[in-house]
Amino acid sequence: MTEKPQRYASWTAGKLPLPELVEMKRRNEKIVMVTAYDAPSGRLADAAGVDLILVGDSSGMVVHGRESTVAVSLDEIVFMTQWVTRGAKRPLVIADMPFGSYEASDEQAVANAVRLVKEGGADAVKLERGGTSVSRARAIVDAGIPVMGHVGLTPQTATVLGGFKAQGRTAARAQALVDDARELEAAGCFAVVLEAVPEPVARAVTKALTVPTIGIGAGAATDGQVLVWHDMLGYYEGRAPRFVKRYADLGEVIVEALGRYAEEVRSGAFPEQQHTYAMPAEELEAFEATATASSPRR
Ligand code: KIV
Repeated sequence: MTEKPQRYASWTAGKLPLPELVEMKRRNEKIVMVTAYDAPSGRLADAAGVDLILVGDSSGMVVHGRESTVAVSLDEIVFMTQWVTRGAKRPLVIADMPFGSYEASDEQAVANAVRLVKEGGADAVKLERGGTSVSRARAIVDAGIPVMGHVGLTPQTATVLGGFKAQGRTAARAQALVDDARELEAAGCFAVVLEAVPEPVARAVTKALTVPTIGIGAGAATDGQVLVWHDMLGYYEGRAPRFVKRYADLGEVIVEALGRYAEEVRSGAFPEQQHTYAMPAEELEAFEATATASSPRR
């Protein structure tokens, strides 16, 4: 049987219980979230003890090399969620609702959230923005699916925001952000992501909400933090945003390993005897006799 980690008050079938998040906020315990996009990354995030995994539409940029997240499809997120949930057992897995999968109506949002849970195996879904997303969030929560909100820099609508830049930097915009977050909480969201907002604004939102805030580029006052897998592990060729801290340089490790592999293939140093398969001596003898006897193919 899996041992119960000391820090959780309750424990159901090996999964971090959703209500525990609000308790963690109350206890002032930071919540750790990271993105993941396949079974190995899900498994490794679980092994490292993270609390929440986001199958983010950031995959469109860091995994699939697109310029933005806009073109990511629901099918892509469904597939990646299936892979991640095969690897991650204890963390709650949250599937991002991609652009175009929830804007049209509450019915569209519920139908697509249901796909992410039924087909993908997600524990919860995340959607971006306030405004019409508040009604979408309420509809999905009413359908029995936990929802995480996301305000501040919302990459799916970066064009409207004037690019990938910090939000809430005027008094009016900061207040609008607090209002959006409050409305998302009132709609039933279990947590709200705050992306690229000044620390005082993130602190104000965190104070205003009962549910946890998860920050990315929002300073240290939020109830938890999230980083994108490829950014934090140095596994992404583009320029990472200023709020990213690199905890490893996997890109360098991989290039060095591939370089050694190429060198050894070209020099004949790889493969060695230990990497090959043997066959019984008598079979080899018989095979060699047959091979010598048979005529070459035309
Ligand atoms: O898609 C994503 O990875 C995200 C995080 C940056 C919060 O939305």
